Amino acid sequence: MPVQSESFDVAVVGGGAIGLACAWRASQRGARVVVIDSGEPGAWNVAAGMLAPVSEADFGERELLQLGLQSSMRYGAFCAELDDPGYSSISTLVVARDRDEAEELDRLLALQRELGLLVDRLRPSQARSCEPALAPTIRLALNVISDNAIDPRKLVAALRRAFTGEQRTGRVTGLTRQGDRVTGVTLEDGTIVADQVVIAAGVDVACLDIPEHARVPVRPVKGQVLRLRDPNGPGLVSRTIRGHGVYLVPRVDGRYVLGATMEERGWDTTPTVGGVYELLRDMSEIVPGILELEIEEIIAGLRPATPDNLPAIGRGALEGLVWATGHYRNGILLTPITAELVVDALAGESLPTYAVAADPRRFEGVLA
Ligand code: GLY
Repeated sequence: MPVQSESFDVAVVGGGAIGLACAWRASQRGARVVVIDSGEPGAWNVAAGMLAPVSEADFGERELLQLGLQSSMRYGAFCAELDDPGYSSISTLVVARDRDEAEELDRLLALQRELGLLVDRLRPSQARSCEPALAPTIRLALNVISDNAIDPRKLVAALRRAFTGEQRTGRVTGLTRQGDRVTGVTLEDGTIVADQVVIAAGVDVACLDIPEHARVPVRPVKGQVLRLRDPNGPGLVSRTIRGHGVYLVPRVDGRYVLGATMEERGWDTTPTVGGVYELLRDMSEIVPGILELEIEEIIAGLRPATPDNLPAIGRGALEGLVWATGHYRNGILLTPITAELVVDALAGESLPTYAVAADPRRFEGVLA
């Protein structure tokens, strides 16, 4: 039997970290909010949870760095409002294995210092006195003190507890509209009427029926991850360790997340021997002791990537529609700032200067 239409101030499509954070913040401002989630965990369920705008900072990504820094500075207060979100203050060691990687790190360090970021350059002996499990062969390390980490699964569980509005399981197929004004969402078995709709559906955005001129183009980028456990408890490493194309994020209980591949393979989420091999090979050259750990889980997820690698946050071409998608490698990091910008957009406010590069309207008329 078709579900009857119901009416809300805001319908949020997607119940991952970003969707729930937007819903939570909107309800705190007094809105009647419904979150509709497909029931299939999104990229948050695979993400390692590095809160690392500085060590992720790369050449040509200054707008992303600004957004990341804005979000990072809000994270402590954001988590203080949540019950057990899995936040930990751990820095990042970015490690070079050979001369080429060391030269690249020195170039990155120069950029980071030019931007006023706090980064220490450590000789191998200094790095190994911080993290004795590092291989004696490493060439150089950068210590990024301001980075932190969070367990995204705990974060989503905490947001589900904190959000007191409606949470529904269902597959949203598109939008209901009157001309260019959004009036709600369509589901496989009914509709939900809402004054405004927030799309925070990650890569599933690509499957929604939205008019061409108003779409945000998002494509999946596969990432494979291993979840590891030290039977001897915590202590192998106490910081996030990053190498070229690989990272190891410690949890407080002796568990680790080892990630992540970057693969353009459409909607495929099958873990592969090659992907797992590359991650283990690359990280074991930096932290040989990971080969003693137990494997708890091998999992792959899909990052929602836009053509310019920047997210789409704020109002789009359709009236009543607010985007919170395309966060690519940075969904967990950008959760607090996205929620703040989305509730401001719902209230009719424009994006602040540091976030204008994320304006969804830059994609008007662009095909996925
Ligand atoms: N943020 C790290 C990744 O996407 O693998």
